[in-house]
Amino acid sequence: MAASIRWLGHSAYAFDFDGHKLLIDPFVSGNPVAKAAANELKAEVILLTHAHGDHVGDSVEIAKRTGALVVCNFEMGDWFMAHGVQNVFQGNPGGTFRNGWMSAKWTVAHHSSSFPDGTYGGQPNGFVIRGGGKVIYHAGDTSLFSDMKLIGDEGLDLALLPIGDCFTMGIDDSIRAIGFLSPGLVSPMHYNTFPPIEQDADAWAARVNAETSARAVVLEPDGELSL
Ligand code: NI
Ligand code: MN
Repeated sequence: MAASIRWLGHSAYAFDFDGHKLLIDPFVSGNPVAKAAANELKAEVILLTHAHGDHVGDSVEIAKRTGALVVCNFEMGDWFMAHGVQNVFQGNPGGTFRNGWMSAKWTVAHHSSSFPDGTYGGQPNGFVIRGGGKVIYHAGDTSLFSDMKLIGDEGLDLALLPIGDCFTMGIDDSIRAIGFLSPGLVSPMHYNTFPPIEQDADAWAARVNAETSARAVVLEPDGELSL
């Protein structure tokens, strides 16, 4: 079994689980740090944490081009179906999407969720994702919350955490989150895309390695990590 991830910048990732392709929050075209082009991305499943434009990104176009299944919360699923994407799976916290090569369980996230056109986008989420023999937590956009302890009970190989501050937790709270989550590896996201979320990822990594049991992995946009 094999799992690898490619960070597209911001909170966007392309996962490969044993040759199967999963995209998460594919914000590429309007993403100032992305190196990938939206029209080269492959996907069988597109997972979306919430409706903000820096997460929905190129989802409609990619879903229409590839026929990928869009997996998202209930209200977002309705919006996608109203915008010409019929291949949608809708869930909410506690629920799990499963196919033959991956699963994704919705978790809560403390944030907001509306589409760029103003449509209500339901409650924001994170996901506990299983694939390629690994367990990965993508926190979405969220503050620190103590129930991350319950997510840590799932035995995480990798946690993807926002560190940008302003719209999500910042560095100090991400260190506390890692204490709750106890992942083997942790990688930062949702920083340095725009001026309000500038952070020093190397300083973050030094703190992770000194203050937590996890090992920090800082990727460059388009950087890959094999698990
Ligand atoms: Ni957001
Ligand atoms: Mn965001």
